[in-house]
Amino acid sequence: MEKFPPLVPAAPGLIHGGDYNPDQWLGYPDVLQEDVRLMKLAGVNSASVAIFAWAALEPEEGKYDFEWLDETFDRLWKAGVRIILATPSGARPAWMDAKYPEVLRVNADRTKNLHGLRHNHCFTSPYYRQKVREMNRMLAERYGKHPALMMWHLSNEYGGECHCPLCQEAFRNWLRKKYDNDIEKLNHEWWTYFWSHRYTSFDQIESPSPLGDKLIHGMNLDWKRFVTEQTMDFIRNEMEPLREITPNIPVTTNLMGFYDGLDYWKLSQILDVVSWDNYPLWGNDSEKLWETASHTAFIHDMNRCFLKGKPFMLMESVPSKTNWHPCCKLKRPGMHLLSSMQAVAHGSDSVQYFQWRKGRGASEKFHGAVVDHCGRSDTMEFLGVKSVGDLLKKLPGVAGTSTKSQAAVLYDWENRWAIEDFQGTVNKESRRYVETCVEHYRPLWKRGVSTDIVSEDSDLSGYRLLAAPMLYMLRPGVAQKLRDFAEQGGTLILTHLTGYVNENDLCFLGGFPGDGMMDTAGIWCEDIDTVYPSDENFAVSKENHLGFAGRYPLGRMREIVHPAEGTEVLAAYEGDFYAGMPVLTCHPVGKGRVYYIASAVGPDFLEELYSKLIPEAGVSPCLPVELPEGVSVTLREGGGQQYYFFMNFTEMDQRVSLPAGTEFTDMDSGGTVRDLLDLPPYGVRILKK
Ligand code: GLA
Ligand code: ZN
Repeated sequence: MEKFPPLVPAAPGLIHGGDYNPDQWLGYPDVLQEDVRLMKLAGVNSASVAIFAWAALEPEEGKYDFEWLDETFDRLWKAGVRIILATPSGARPAWMDAKYPEVLRVNADRTKNLHGLRHNHCFTSPYYRQKVREMNRMLAERYGKHPALMMWHLSNEYGGECHCPLCQEAFRNWLRKKYDNDIEKLNHEWWTYFWSHRYTSFDQIESPSPLGDKLIHGMNLDWKRFVTEQTMDFIRNEMEPLREITPNIPVTTNLMGFYDGLDYWKLSQILDVVSWDNYPLWGNDSEKLWETASHTAFIHDMNRCFLKGKPFMLMESVPSKTNWHPCCKLKRPGMHLLSSMQAVAHGSDSVQYFQWRKGRGASEKFHGAVVDHCGRSDTMEFLGVKSVGDLLKKLPGVAGTSTKSQAAVLYDWENRWAIEDFQGTVNKESRRYVETCVEHYRPLWKRGVSTDIVSEDSDLSGYRLLAAPMLYMLRPGVAQKLRDFAEQGGTLILTHLTGYVNENDLCFLGGFPGDGMMDTAGIWCEDIDTVYPSDENFAVSKENHLGFAGRYPLGRMREIVHPAEGTEVLAAYEGDFYAGMPVLTCHPVGKGRVYYIASAVGPDFLEELYSKLIPEAGVSPCLPVELPEGVSVTLREGGGQQYYFFMNFTEMDQRVSLPAGTEFTDMDSGGTVRDLLDLPPYGVRILKK
């Protein structure tokens, strides 16, 4: 496997740093000097600067102050710290909101915001777009040639939506384009004869609102698609001067994991580098530590897959506690190094924090940071960061390496929007689309199987095993692509809720799974029963080719399906009026197999199933080792080098038997490792083969 070129050509190697807000500390020159000393001590080589700094850059309309930023650039560069320069559009100065109220967002209930908070500008406002372009041009002209500039950080965590008159008009134009200016086409796709909602002109359309329409699912979907595209349009507008003046400086923006408001499969495509902000609830009460870890691993893998394996960046994480968590627990000793290295293990070429220094006031004053109010370098937080810095320095060869996967899990934002919107099963929370995707990923993670995350639009041809849970919406061509995947020898896992609607949320006629998927799945779904938590039922295995065995409790959505001729039934319902009908089937398609899980199931069912499917599909783990529960291993390779990341997400000592006769180098100690690998609680060890 080839290596990817460095994210920042001028600075190969792993990036370590975080959000740095000198603009909040301009009255404290000693603090600014001390920051430089502490950054060197912590092994930090990058700082993300000027996020939310508009009020410092343009304190009054047309009056600019770049002096503090000039000084920051020079001060950090002298200390060997490179700058990820933010465009400041994530928050606006008060003068702007007062004078140009069109920049203030309008909510779905049509109330208009007052000045305040952040991440809440109108994405359409011509004034704001122009202002952002001008500001970004000034930044690019002033700092584009500064040797410290390594990357652009566009705005911050784009999100939310605006329902102002400007956005309404943009939405209508977007619809005109999508439906070829033909209102009857839209009426059909949105099914607007329902409740007499038919339109006679595009001008009558208003975005979804609690005061108006919110139950036209096709409209809700189109609105969400529009919001993603309008956000992308705003991003392109931000990029314009940056591309022109600094064509060689890569551009990123920080994504937010499973944030549901934007389709990151689309948005990520216009970035040079993908980055994301990671704040897991380590050590919470409702799941085991390793369950949190596998959920986080899924998101890391997804970020790696947005740009087809290109290393991503962990843009934000916290050295200790996160102020907005329901319970602000400190990371346990060792946890910071482990969680930081987990990002690297899954393909990140950076570990970055929010934030470098705790502010004195406002809502984030107790949010974890590298430097606390006490200003000391011997706190657990600071030392944890230093330990990351020390280890990253020993891993220059890891940068640019990636992972080749034989297995994939399909998670699709549009599918999620459609699933979470419909009525007719359990409530939105109990439907568990995201959770189900993660649950199918978990048995792969547990076995050290490198796994990609894909969308309905991804190329599936390189995989042997593909789990596509709850694929409720089938966009045009997807059913055929899945069939081709199986025909060519792939193992495809489908579940309840497959193939109900098309891309505009219109139900397929002729039976589910629709759009030809019935022939692929080898079942016909007659109906779906959704039950109360007390309505127990079980899947019971039957004699079958796979050796799937046992009796497993079922979740709350249970499809009544009929097997086609030639479909094997591996497990059946134990109780209720559909006792004996299939829960798990297998249908041979071409050279491959399609499994159908008709009911929501629990982790034990999936654990049993994947323990058999992985070998049957010919999928190998990245290293042939037995892993104790809570220990994971990943592989990053490239340029002839292989790095194995062993991580212990438990509070106990763990031991792994390495493949006999293989020698590894421990990247931290430099020592040779063979036969047995010991991992202390929260331990991480990186071995090179
Ligand atoms: C987000 C933001 C940061 C900060 C952190 C706090 O990720 O991007 O500015 O507010 O949350 O966790
Ligand atoms: Zn708007």
